[in-house]
Formats: sequence, C-alpha cells, structure tokens
Amino acid sequence: MAQLLITGGAGFIGSHTCLVLLAAGHHLVVIDNYDNSSPESLRRVAELAGPGASGRLAVVEGDIRNAADLERAFAAAPADQPIEGVIHFAGLKAVGESVRDPLRYWDVNLSGSRQLLASMQAHGCRTIVFSSSCTVYGLPETVPIRETAPIQPINPYGHSKAAVEQLLADLATSEQGWRIARLRYFNPVGAHPSGRIGEDPSGIPNNLFPFVSQVAVGRRERLQVFGGDWPTPDGSGVRDYIHVMDLAEGHQAALDKLMKEAPQLLTVNLGSGRGLSVLEVVRAFESTCGRPIPYTIVERRPGDAAITVADPALASERLGWRTRRSLAEMCRDGWAWQNANPTGYGG
Ligand SMILES: NC(=O)c1ccc[n+]([C@@H]2O[C@H](COP(=O)([O-])OP(=O)(O)OC[C@H]3O[C@@H](n4cnc5c(N)ncnc54)[C@H](O)[C@@H]3O)[C@@H](O)[C@H]2O)c1
Repeated sequence: MAQLLITGGAGFIGSHTCLVLLAAGHHLVVIDNYDNSSPESLRRVAELAGPGASGRLAVVEGDIRNAADLERAFAAAPADQPIEGVIHFAGLKAVGESVRDPLRYWDVNLSGSRQLLASMQAHGCRTIVFSSSCTVYGLPETVPIRETAPIQPINPYGHSKAAVEQLLADLATSEQGWRIARLRYFNPVGAHPSGRIGEDPSGIPNNLFPFVSQVAVGRRERLQVFGGDWPTPDGSGVRDYIHVMDLAEGHQAALDKLMKEAPQLLTVNLGSGRGLSVLEVVRAFESTCGRPIPYTIVERRPGDAAITVADPALASERLGWRTRRSLAEMCRDGWAWQNANPTGYGG
C-alpha cells in the first residue's frame, strides 16, 4: 500500500476520497489550510475509517503556496516510507468569486500548484492526480463532451484550471518519469451514506445541491433557478451530477492505474454521461425529504450553458471506472448529511 499526500483533503471531495483510500489500506498525509473546510471533517473521516485505519492518517495544517509547509507535509511521512504519490484537491472553486478576485484565484490555484510540483520534484515524487474541472471546456459546442473538445474556459477559475493542466503537460514533456492524471470532474454532489461527512460550503452555496438541501432543512427560504427558457425538455439547465463517492472511487482508480503502468499523462472526464435538469433534481429531492422546495425562476446567469454532460467512455476504457450511484442515492445521502448537520461541521 502506498504513502500518499492529499492536498485539500479536509474539503468536500478530499474528505470522501481520504475515506476510500484509507479503506483500501493506503497511508495518508493531508495538508490543508482550512480556508474552506474544518478539521472536524478529517476527525470524522478517521472515526469512519475505524481504529485500525486512523493511525494511517496524518494531518498537517499548512498552505500549498508555502514551501516550508509542504516540507513539513513531506516530513510527516516515515523516512522508510516516503510520499509516492499526490492527489491535489487544494484550490479555490467559486466561479463568481474568481471573476471578482482573479489575483487570488491565480495565486492559490496556479502558484499553489507550481509550488507543490516544485516540492514534489525536489522529493523525487512524480505521481500526481489533479482535480480539474469541466469548466475548462467553457461553453461546449457539442454534448456529450469528449476530452478532445476545445479547451476554452470563460472565467478566471476555468483559466486557472486550464493553466495547471498545461503546466502538468509541460512537466511531462520536460522530464521522463512523471505519472499524471488530469481528472475533469462534472458536478459532484451527495455525501457519504453515513451522513457524517458531506459538503459544507461557507456562505451562500454556489451550487444547486447544497442550495436545495439548505432550503429543505429551513436554512434558506427559496431556491433561485437560473433560466426557465433553455432549449431543454423542461426549460431548466441540464447538468451531469455525479455522486461524490463515485468520484472518490474514480480517484482511487486513477491512482492505481498511474502506479501500476508506465509513466503517462492521462486526461479523463469523470461524469455519468446522463443529464439531469434542475427541476428534475428539485422533484427528486422533494420526494426524498418529504418537503416542498419553493423556487423562483429568474434570469439566466451569464456564462451558463444550457446542457453540460460528459462523455464518460474514456474513463470507462482507461480506468475501468464508471458511476454506479443513482439520483435517488445522491438525494438520500445528501439529505442524510444535511438533516443530521443543519449547519454543517459547525453544528
Ligand atoms: N466541487 C465541485 O463542484 C468541483 C468541480 C470540479 C472541480 N473541483 C475541484 O476539486 C477540488 C476540490 O473541490 P471541493 O469541492 O472538495 O472543494 P473544497 O473547497 O471543499 O476543498 C478544497 C480544500 O482545499 C483547501 N485549500 C484551499 N486553498 C488551500 C491552500 N492554499 N493550501 C492548502 N489547502 C487549501 C480548502 O481549505 C479545502 O479543504 C478543487 O480543486 C476544485 O476546484 C470541484
């Protein structure tokens, strides 16, 4: 089993992936500055992983932009079992905020990744799984979206992800031995079925699922649906939602592949290939929680697409991975988390 460094491991996707990796027997060092998370998530990951596994989880509070913090993270692994691979989740992810504060987004997402890669190189560690996003495709010309679609982001967040993707490709060209997976996630939702860990966005949620579940639990009054006149069957936008546990398993599959095979640069979509409209999600959530979700249809948001759905064929072919969990499971698990933790980890 491998010794791994997980950046941003206290966050939404990171915490679920840590749990999957601990269950698979890996040893983990997490580095997180808790900018958008809480140490409580990792405490619960350790609790869910069980007493045998929690000794395999070390946590370092630190910032990936800081070389000394990364040194402490590399030093947290035992000398006879150095870090062999990195899963790089740490970053900022709110599109609107990135438009308002591009300097911060380029700093954390690009400078942070550059520093991490320099530290990895200094430690002779050349295996990395990177959290990219379907945002790199911008407004897609055709759906479902294949990995060969043009990279044409339309906001600073997407530009910063595309820049890190390019940096990784440049590194792979510059030096032999890099094993790199660039994973382009679609829309991760849901939670671990225990309801102990889940998504805990600070402030007003940017994404549909946390917003819907906060309305259901009474924390927000009503949902705003952006656009009711899209060229879709019910007029609301269509997205490719993926259960966060499926996504976590996708990371495990990518890591296994990188560690087993010759050095390579792998780029895959992680999505289900199935589009669901906003209104379908609202109805499914209502039937899970047994409460109405009041909503208002408002203007479209600039930069939104009508339909964004992955072509998941390459992930299936290259990783032997595909999504397994249904919309009903996304709602059930997301609701179990929100209902038991109405104010997230703070409650
Ligand atoms: N959730 C999504 O919808 C989505 C979609 C596509 C891609 N992604 C990408 O996946 C990754 C994880 O997303 P998430 O939803 O778990 O987000 P998240 O905010 O829950 O997790 C990110 C984690 O990184 C940490 N972090 C931020 N800046 C840091 C820094 N400078 N140093 C150390 N830690 C830092 C945060 O505290 C947080 O724990 C991000 O890179 C995001 O851009 C997310």
